[in-house]
Amino acid sequence: MKKKLLSIILAATMVASLLVGCGSSSTESSADTTTKEEAGDTTTSSADGDLQVGIVLPTKDEPRWLQDQAQFEQILGDAGFTNQVLFSQGSSATEKTNVESLISQGIDVLIICAQDGAAAAAAVEEAKDAGVTVIAYDRLITGTDAVDYYVTFDSFAVGVAQGQYLIDNTTGTGVPLYLYAGAATDNNAFIFFEGAWSVLQPKIADGTFVIANSSEAVALQDKAELTRDEMATIIGQITTDWDFNVAKSKAEAHLTAASADMKGDVRILAPNDGTARSIADVFAADTDITSYVVTGQDSEKASVQYVIDGKQSMTVFKDTRTLAADSVAMAVSILNGETPATDTTYNNEVIDVPAKQTDIVVVTQENVQAALIDSGYYEASEFTGLE
Ligand code: BGC
Repeated sequence: MKKKLLSIILAATMVASLLVGCGSSSTESSADTTTKEEAGDTTTSSADGDLQVGIVLPTKDEPRWLQDQAQFEQILGDAGFTNQVLFSQGSSATEKTNVESLISQGIDVLIICAQDGAAAAAAVEEAKDAGVTVIAYDRLITGTDAVDYYVTFDSFAVGVAQGQYLIDNTTGTGVPLYLYAGAATDNNAFIFFEGAWSVLQPKIADGTFVIANSSEAVALQDKAELTRDEMATIIGQITTDWDFNVAKSKAEAHLTAASADMKGDVRILAPNDGTARSIADVFAADTDITSYVVTGQDSEKASVQYVIDGKQSMTVFKDTRTLAADSVAMAVSILNGETPATDTTYNNEVIDVPAKQTDIVVVTQENVQAALIDSGYYEASEFTGLE
């Protein structure tokens, strides 16, 4: 036990130094699961031989989560924690099996980014019953008291930044606005939309924008603040399910249905980078679209290239180094028997979950070098045409 405490204190010191400056990330990984344990160094293994920290991420099919995986493996590995990263691959059933597998390996802390925020409640309740401390990562798990902490980016600010970017890059009135949202099973999709709506709605009400693709949003366009149910109605119509193919076919259907006055110079609220690239490609291919401004989020490599090339207008940089480091610092506090530092709470329909929130950065052609290259997140050589 003494040895374990010592290793935790050592790990905490290492995490503290990592929080000051993390190494660069890699989005390349083909591994399904990864266990890090530095052989021969007793401070890197748990005293009882069990796995200490289990991480469950939604899918390997989106570069966003591979960025998080790389950060976890680096930070936890360097800090000397035994850990395993498992992917749910879009399935709540797989997610539950993953959680059960980690519980059976004796984890003390579970860091989980839910595939479906409501469905994940059952899995984390099992973890909680087994004495595991649960940290919801990036996406809040709803409808349960089995979430101990939440580590997240400021998702409302993401939506505001996307909406504000469209506003700042629009002149005149009657500009067609195409709205897209994330998956209705993801609490974040609501927060992103809520943030975007908070700035876009006044500009719809004053005639700057005309909603082009959502009768549900049109029906509610005079309401500055929407209830969760009202947002659900709109999101139900414009959801991409966080899926590139859904985004592509919806955009195609919208442009096929659009009248001539909804073409020309248009604005597009795209919820994240993967969907933004799909939607941008569809709009770029339509000869009746003369120009478009499209949002994004995550600063995925492919979208950073799109931004450099002028094919995507902006992305939001969510520094996964910070989020992973914050989660690990939280895990260290928990393993050390301390109460982790939090700065806000998020209500998950049952409890107010203590949360640690991280700021976001808007990335455009103008600051891509400073935000993503000079900060050490990516290498300049990973892109072409960087000034
Ligand atoms: C995350 C985004 C991500 C999206 C799709 C959201 O919960 O916050 O960063 O793009 O899920 O995976």
